[in-house]
Amino acid sequence: MIRIIKTADYDEMSRVAARIIAAQVTLKPQSILGLATGSTPIGTYEELVEKYRDGRLDFSGVSTVNLDEYKGLGGDHDQSYRYFMNTHLFDHVNIDKARTHVPNGAAADSAAECRAYDELVAGLGGADLQLLGMGHNGHIGFNEPGSTFVKGTHVVDLTESTINANARLFASRDEVPRQALTMGIGTIMSAKSILVVVNGEGKAQAVKDSFCGPITPEVQASILQLHANVTVVADAAALSLVEMGANELIIA
Ligand code: GLP
Repeated sequence: MIRIIKTADYDEMSRVAARIIAAQVTLKPQSILGLATGSTPIGTYEELVEKYRDGRLDFSGVSTVNLDEYKGLGGDHDQSYRYFMNTHLFDHVNIDKARTHVPNGAAADSAAECRAYDELVAGLGGADLQLLGMGHNGHIGFNEPGSTFVKGTHVVDLTESTINANARLFASRDEVPRQALTMGIGTIMSAKSILVVVNGEGKAQAVKDSFCGPITPEVQASILQLHANVTVVADAAALSLVEMGANELIIA
């Protein structure tokens, strides 16, 4: 079942998403959180940091598993997703860093790293809540449009459109890694609940295709229609192509 919550703008999207994550951690202090990178969840992380600083949230029992990492980048590279997570969340809250997990993009044997990552996630019992952003082409994690849904963590070739979209964050397009390690669709779908954040007109088509269109590996996020517990928090711009009579829509 998919529950779509429409917010006025990015800031409200971030506040609503942070409230959902905070509720998860409050109700289960030992939660396993699946976390995402990209510009979309930055506001959500800022809200979580604020709640922690105000004494309203305690991360001491939380463990995290991130979706993906660029292949070839070590955690000290300022565009690595490990670095992103440290600077946007982990360095600012009372989480035990030893319980935060991001695939190791610098691993010499990527295939072994992917297998180990799946074992780690399975060993933790899967995520209680998996946060997801969405690519312009409907990708989740780095699962790009293709002919199949890949089950486990794997190495992917990034599409030209993803390389172009992420080039803004690197000194030049040439520096964007061409490959990444990403949780597979099976790993993502093993989460007990899924929270998608998405904003902006540029994602409107991907939102419509993902939640109102056929389930197809060409739009990887469309698989979420088969998950029992998905909440999408999206701003009005991202929902501009979805017919919504009210600010909340349930797609059963
Ligand atoms: C990257 C990440 C995704 C993210 C996507 C969208 O490709 N691997 O997890 O959802 O970017 O990023 P943004 O939120 O910056 O649009």
